[in-house]
Amino acid sequence: MKGILLAGGTGTRMYPLTIATSKQLLSVYNKPMVYYPLSILMLAGLREILVISTPASLPSLRALLADGSQLGISISYAPQPEPRGIAEALLIGADHIGGDATALILGDNIFHGAGFPQLLRDSVAQLAGCTLFGYPVSDPERYGIGELNHQGELVSIEEKPHRPRSHNAITGLYLYDSEAVEIARGLTPSARGELEITDVNRSYLHQGRAQLTQLGRGFTWFDTGTPDSLHAASQYVQVIEARQGIRVACLEEIALRMGYIDQDACYQLGAEMRNSEYGRYLMEIAHSLG
Ligand code: G1P
Repeated sequence: MKGILLAGGTGTRMYPLTIATSKQLLSVYNKPMVYYPLSILMLAGLREILVISTPASLPSLRALLADGSQLGISISYAPQPEPRGIAEALLIGADHIGGDATALILGDNIFHGAGFPQLLRDSVAQLAGCTLFGYPVSDPERYGIGELNHQGELVSIEEKPHRPRSHNAITGLYLYDSEAVEIARGLTPSARGELEITDVNRSYLHQGRAQLTQLGRGFTWFDTGTPDSLHAASQYVQVIEARQGIRVACLEEIALRMGYIDQDACYQLGAEMRNSEYGRYLMEIAHSLG
């Protein structure tokens, strides 16, 4: 399975924060936002990742993440010149996907919860069609919404409905089999000229090949697309890290734990940043996992 991280969009809902920088480079407490979704792809076991962003933001993302070899993975880059919708990522990434299955994640989505890495790996291993992840929210008009019947089967998907049929948001992590690119090729742009990811998901639903996995109590999901949600996510990460002495979305630690890099490489990456808490944490982790 290939990974695609979509860090596009003009971020106008965050202005003036995002006039001169990309939303996905803003800080979520002590790391750039993009670390969080990238950590999820790495934890799912994916090592070939395409980052898609605006032409203006790609150089900064590349300066931050490079070619991924420092993390034992491969990161490539492609532009999305205009904001033509999330599903366009499947077309831009068609060569990268190369007939394989895909995990597409949005660059402003943060997932955190015990057991999630295993759930992800199980979902990847058992994928048939498309797997979506649902999360209960108090403001369903802001999201794609999935409705389940009494048997827990997904029966409808609507994008930002005025009258939501449920409070079940469809989060920005989508697992697709190899047919997603063909489905995206057949889409008609929406009224706002975008290829909607909800239409890809609906196509799988109509084929009876979409399932929604619920992320429930004890799980945290943020779409950090507004100043309030960005602030809330930063607070959350600060509290968890301070209380438990761990780091959320620490890419180098994940690379070490996944066996993508060794202890010495992790220590070196920490030593290069030894003036920061983050760097010193890496040096300690490399030491203690040795
Ligand atoms: C997008 C999707 C929506 C999904 C959300 C998750 O909305 O269109 O279906 O629920 O991401 O973050 P956006 O945040 O781009 O408005």
